[in-house]
Amino acid sequence: MCGIIGYIGKRNAPDIVIDALKRAETRGYHGFGVAVSTGNKFEIRKKGGEDCLGDFLELVSKSLLPKSSYAFGHNRWATHGTPEDRNAHPHLSQSGRLAIVHNGIIENYSVLKNTIEKETGVSLKLISDTDTEVLVNWIEYVQKLSKLSLKEAMKSALENVEGTFAFIVASLDEPGVFVGAVRGRTMRIGVGEHEGEKEFFIASEVYPFSHYTQTYVVIPSHKLISVTKDGYIVEDTRTGLVETPELKKLEITLHATEKGEYKYWMDKEIHEQPRMIENVLQGRVDLRDKSVILGGIKEYEKDLANASILHIVAHGTSFNSALLFKYWCEAIAGIPVNVELASEFRYRKTLVSNGSFVIGISQSGETADTIVALEHAQELGATILGICNVEGSHMSEMTDAGIFLRAGRELGVASTKTFTAQMAVGMMLSLHLARIKGVLPEGSYQELFEELQSLPLYIEEVLSLDNPNIKLALELLKNASSAYYIGRGVSYPIALEGALKIKEIAGIHAEGYAASEMKHGPIGLLDKHMPVVAIATSSSQIDKMISNIKEAQARKAPVIALVTRGNPNNVPADIHIELPEVREEFSPFINILPLQILAFRLALMKGKNPDKPEGLAKSITVE
Ligand code: M6R
Repeated sequence: MCGIIGYIGKRNAPDIVIDALKRAETRGYHGFGVAVSTGNKFEIRKKGGEDCLGDFLELVSKSLLPKSSYAFGHNRWATHGTPEDRNAHPHLSQSGRLAIVHNGIIENYSVLKNTIEKETGVSLKLISDTDTEVLVNWIEYVQKLSKLSLKEAMKSALENVEGTFAFIVASLDEPGVFVGAVRGRTMRIGVGEHEGEKEFFIASEVYPFSHYTQTYVVIPSHKLISVTKDGYIVEDTRTGLVETPELKKLEITLHATEKGEYKYWMDKEIHEQPRMIENVLQGRVDLRDKSVILGGIKEYEKDLANASILHIVAHGTSFNSALLFKYWCEAIAGIPVNVELASEFRYRKTLVSNGSFVIGISQSGETADTIVALEHAQELGATILGICNVEGSHMSEMTDAGIFLRAGRELGVASTKTFTAQMAVGMMLSLHLARIKGVLPEGSYQELFEELQSLPLYIEEVLSLDNPNIKLALELLKNASSAYYIGRGVSYPIALEGALKIKEIAGIHAEGYAASEMKHGPIGLLDKHMPVVAIATSSSQIDKMISNIKEAQARKAPVIALVTRGNPNNVPADIHIELPEVREEFSPFINILPLQILAFRLALMKGKNPDKPEGLAKSITVE
């Protein structure tokens, strides 16, 4: 959510920044911009609007920027101000001598604005509606008063700034220097070499520069940085001490593969799930002694297995996968699991302390709600663990230990393959803890372990089925303004996830319910215009599920049911989507697939771009 990028080095900086903005597009597409200093002014090219990368690229191709070894840019996910040109970053100070790109929120921007106006007696002539433009003016105001260098002035200005942010500022008076600040966020500096000279990339994540260099440092919260062509200095804003962050090397290649035969990332990501699961399992399952190896949490595994309760915090799709982990971990390993939306966990009185384990699940590893919940848990003394997909992400850096998903980069805003990877890691962790704890009979363990190995085959089979009933289901759903998704047991989180997908990318209002909950209120809205998608594959609760479907039919709601091949349970429905039979514990891996496909194809039918749902971004870095 909002991406910042800066480059200093021998290459042509505007080209590097524009390339990086394309690569980080999913952080927000409400605005794109780039700034270059010509010595006496900043040349800025920027575009705002919904999904405006194309317009921005056209602008920079028609209105070329001067060549430079030093440039910076931004892609925007709107917080303050609508998506339009004037709200896109970079923003200039009133004198035009400072330029800024910013990710985050300045909570007291109106106080800062009032202070400047009161103290100077002059009204700020702001061009945008953003908190960012106020911030750059605040820095300019403090610098003018104090006559300090940009870096020292920024340090002083930050004392009165409230909020969480990562931003970089450049000044015409100090050419070739970027000064940046981070609070409650992280930033990365990529460290490379080109034609015998050093080069530096400043970015919100490693991906935009990972094809230029694999070496980077993470800049955590409460830091001030200055970067020139010769190097970087990192200073703690609380202690004033200069620090030397550890140089890291990317271990996983983050290069985006091409879309290949696919037009959309989401389609590709759905179809790469069999290979992705192989990758998730590779090296983590020992076929000789049928054990799971999770190196990232080795140090904590015994304590985890003996914990009286595990707390999981997450949002969105990651929350749905966390619910599944709860079902599995409690049933398989006998360890109680508390799953909470991270934002709720953070701001209520939570009973975690020394000895507690709090696990964050996040595809991006950048979700602000989840990050602050983990920070809070750490302050309370808990050990914090992370399950995330992005190496070098905020979560992967802040946690005591963790497990990478290894799903490969996901570019579609809607999580698909990373949800499946989260499920696979959840199942592996449950099996692993069960074995350490010794609670599962060996025979049952082996059966589950073997089924885990078969997942890529099952998934492949489902994805290759060209089920004609999917078309019927699409016809039914495309005209609906609302739909319910229902399931019981491990199918309940799948109902939540199926509903989230269709809501997110097809723009159809949908709610997921535990099937039994329908009769406690939601059932009142059922009629012939409200389809119900029922996850009704074979399970221990199939009879009760059938009763819930009948309740919906009694109210004339059309029912689309996911059923086990041959419909052995005689599930009543208007449209049946048959799926291969797997053990109930593993059914979520199969059942989610047609729901992902339905959402993807509905989005296309409704003329939407499934990769870029309106108003959403891939990583949500504000609370
Ligand atoms: O990166 P995270 O997994 O922490 O993101 C959390 C949610 O914002 C995310 O899962 C969102 O719900 C998905 N885009 C849904 O497809």
